[in-house]
Amino acid sequence: MKLKIAKLPGDGIGPEVVEQAAKAVEAVAKKFGHEVEWSFGYVGACAIDRTGSAFPEETFNTCMAADAVLFGAVGDPKYDNDPTAKVRPETGLLAMRKQLGLFSNLRPVETFKSLVHKSPLKEELVDGADFLCVRELTGGMYFGEKGRRDNGDTAYDTNLYHRFEVERILKQAYEFARRRRKHLTVVDKANVLESSRLWRQVAQEMAPQYPDVTTDYMYVDNAAMKLITGPKFFDVLVTENTFGDILTDEASCVSGSMGLLASASIGEHTGVYEPIHGSYPQAAGKNIANPLATILSAAMMFEYAFGLMEEGKAIRKAVAASIDECIVTEDLAGDGKAYSTSEVGDWVAAHI
Ligand code: IPM
Ligand code: MN
Repeated sequence: MKLKIAKLPGDGIGPEVVEQAAKAVEAVAKKFGHEVEWSFGYVGACAIDRTGSAFPEETFNTCMAADAVLFGAVGDPKYDNDPTAKVRPETGLLAMRKQLGLFSNLRPVETFKSLVHKSPLKEELVDGADFLCVRELTGGMYFGEKGRRDNGDTAYDTNLYHRFEVERILKQAYEFARRRRKHLTVVDKANVLESSRLWRQVAQEMAPQYPDVTTDYMYVDNAAMKLITGPKFFDVLVTENTFGDILTDEASCVSGSMGLLASASIGEHTGVYEPIHGSYPQAAGKNIANPLATILSAAMMFEYAFGLMEEGKAIRKAVAASIDECIVTEDLAGDGKAYSTSEVGDWVAAHI
């Protein structure tokens, strides 16, 4: 099969980790007889520096022409403490999600046996936890009307949701729940927010169509607590954009390192596969960042974009082996030897 993949490394550690994932992609392609056709695009701060735009049209076209996008991260500290910046790296990521219609962000959280002791949470709480966060990605406060008034002294972001947006993400969450342990938790703040009451209403209307799935409803504050006091409760968790952003960072603690959490953003056009950890500028260029989340995102790409399950599994197996054999970067190494980003990438590719 011919695999047309757009590589968008972005900023910070993005280029280093995407490079390792690309090695894994090549290794799998070779093993299973596929041909990879790479294309390349700038996004984020590196795109602003070159073009003035964080998601240039050329990059959009590159994404549209590809079957899948392998993405690193965006962000640059020079923008972080400048609330007046007209264009920001993050705008590029949001534009990419919006323009590609990527309304669904899938963030699986799993634990690795040999790493449960790495979690800041008690081993018996996290051992065996395995759930999927489904985050709505193109609505809510991220995209609702926002602005300032009163000479800039009043600011607002609107948490706007349309019924169709809620329906399509819930439908997807239900379908994932069906293929897993048939338990869906709808996370909202329906005791306070009108947008959440719409979510809950739509979910209650849809639930009877999925009699095989147990649906429960949980307020987001309670869910935040449950994620660290009893993560094994969850199978599929679905929520709106902002809650999903926050809860998935929190959920990454369950698996022991943010450097392990992969994600897939899917929807109308080309899907984007990316680690959830962000650009980690302090580590950029040092060859120390954990590439496993990006490599696991490449596994998701094989599974979701190409339907190549065996290929995805081959990547997952190699990642699990690298963890078992302690071929890991400093975030996971503990007292053992810390390998560099590229050493881990080479090891995983060779193991495939
Ligand atoms: C994420 C990131 C982004 C988000 C930022 C970089 C805009 O934190 O993918 O979770 O908030 O969605
Ligand atoms: Mn985030």
